[in-house]
Amino acid sequence: MRPKLVVGNWKMNGSRAANATLLSGIVAGLGGAKAKAACAVCAPAPYLAQCQELLAGTPVAWGAQDVSVHASGAYTGEVAAAMLADFACRYVIVGHSERRAYHGEGNELVARKAKAALDAGLTPIVCVGETLAQREANQTAAVVGEQLGTVLETLSPEEVTKIVVAYEPVWAIGTGKTATPAMAQEVHAQLRAQLKVRVGKEAAQQLHILYGGSMKPDNAAELMAQPDIDGGLIGGASLKAAEFLAIINAA
Ligand code: G3P
Repeated sequence: MRPKLVVGNWKMNGSRAANATLLSGIVAGLGGAKAKAACAVCAPAPYLAQCQELLAGTPVAWGAQDVSVHASGAYTGEVAAAMLADFACRYVIVGHSERRAYHGEGNELVARKAKAALDAGLTPIVCVGETLAQREANQTAAVVGEQLGTVLETLSPEEVTKIVVAYEPVWAIGTGKTATPAMAQEVHAQLRAQLKVRVGKEAAQQLHILYGGSMKPDNAAELMAQPDIDGGLIGGASLKAAEFLAIINAA
């Protein structure tokens, strides 16, 4: 069975003081006992050093929210994958819908970011998801299929076995509207079938497909009980230690 994975996406939130309180609350709440699920937080880049300082040696991994496709050089404002690795990041989110919508990131760029992350030894969390208009036009399967498909074409099958996929319906992000467990499961099963074609049945069974979009303590257990939902990518609820811990415990 795949162990569950719960990842907090802080987005552009936090301060040194708030992060210290949040992280110490999470670490204390997890206690010495083996947590029910693996967990991580994806922080804004300036706070990755603080994450490393406060989380090294704890069960909480950390990561970033975006990465450059370039290795180094004259790319003002960009952060290279090797720099994230330098701060011992394990994960980096690529292709979040907010980056697709506000920064014009398309499927090919997202796939190249996943490749850059893997080349630096990081695990990319590749986000896919449809807008409300696309869902209403019955385009969900085609949209997420193409988003994941470009990544699968860009990476070798071996590289694909090292990614995490996150299904985040855009209409459920930060809105309080969650996909029903059945709706989410349908898309997760489709994504796993697509992965299977690329990496084979056994490897596809090992891959993590997270759900994101208004996952909260009161809906997490039901969502994560679905056969193809292997954890969560949590926005708002990851900013409060008690809520984040409750979701980890619901896994
Ligand atoms: O990446 C996490 C995300 O977009 C979901 O955000 O606030 O709806 O949990 P939220």
